[in-house]
Amino acid sequence: MTATQDDVVRLTSFARCAGCAAKLGLGDLAEALGGVPVHSDPRLLVGREGFDDAGVFVLRDDLALVQTVDFFAPIVDDPYEFGQIAAANALSDVFAMGGEPLTALAIVGFPSGKLPLSILTDILRGGSDKVREAGAVLVGGHSIIDEELKFGLSVTGQAHPQKLLTNSAANVGDVLVLTKPLGTGLLATAGKQNRLDSQARNALHASMRALNATASRAALAHGAHCATDVTGFALLGHSSHVARGSNVTVRLDGRALPELPGARALWSSGVRTGGAERNERFLAPLVDWTRARPEDIALALDPQTSGGLLVALSPDRVADYLSAVEGSVQVGVVEPRGNTLIVLE
Ligand code: CO
Ligand code: CO
Repeated sequence: MTATQDDVVRLTSFARCAGCAAKLGLGDLAEALGGVPVHSDPRLLVGREGFDDAGVFVLRDDLALVQTVDFFAPIVDDPYEFGQIAAANALSDVFAMGGEPLTALAIVGFPSGKLPLSILTDILRGGSDKVREAGAVLVGGHSIIDEELKFGLSVTGQAHPQKLLTNSAANVGDVLVLTKPLGTGLLATAGKQNRLDSQARNALHASMRALNATASRAALAHGAHCATDVTGFALLGHSSHVARGSNVTVRLDGRALPELPGARALWSSGVRTGGAERNERFLAPLVDWTRARPEDIALALDPQTSGGLLVALSPDRVADYLSAVEGSVQVGVVEPRGNTLIVLE
């Protein structure tokens, strides 16, 4: 088929669910994986047990592979931008482990015959440019015909086995810093309902396109050993992985949570996402949010696409980190394990 300049293709209409980066719920995923035997290998330094961001496989005393894969349906209508966002999101899991991306493979589901191939070219161009920006190389990929448009990457990076950012290394007394504002799920959903002004839309897209490279490198440079990226399971879900992995309680300050323009207000005016509902169902028993404001709880349950890093830093390094990483905000502290994994107030 051919496309002219006049054709208006709404890429997001090729995503079946609203704001669709929809992941399988955390509870469902844990249940499904429970039936899959674990084959341990001494070289597998970080496997699936801690719900960490990527697998880490040791090659030498000073060298490990960091591997991850992520893909989803369009969350924006511009194909080049969708490619950039999907790539930034997939690369993020390598940065969230303290790795440097080396190579990437593209994963494509394409509604062949329903969309012009030029759309796929633009998506791949966006992905390839973002991979290059991250210092890595797009080396190939695999595509299938699919009703739902999907794009993402499998990324391989490298790290030093002693200089990782895992979920299990938070220390009591550490300060938690978040490097991007929350609210991508709420804003993307509002966008689908044409309830977003251009300023909010631009802020949403810029945030999702941004790499977590600087946040990750600065974390290592400031002595951090624990970080995760905030994605589909929301700030609370990913914080719960840190709390469980490190055997601590994470205390979050709801009022301090940074938001994309209007995110709390959109929730207050009735915008809802299926992802937040799934997150709430799974997380309710793990979080004490009795003293938190409803709009802060909503922000902390909002599923993120290409969200920022949550970094645990020693208190004496926080000020330096905040000035090194633009947009980063102190959001909480790490405490001894209490009654719940998380306290949000
Ligand atoms: Co992650
Ligand atoms: Co991921």
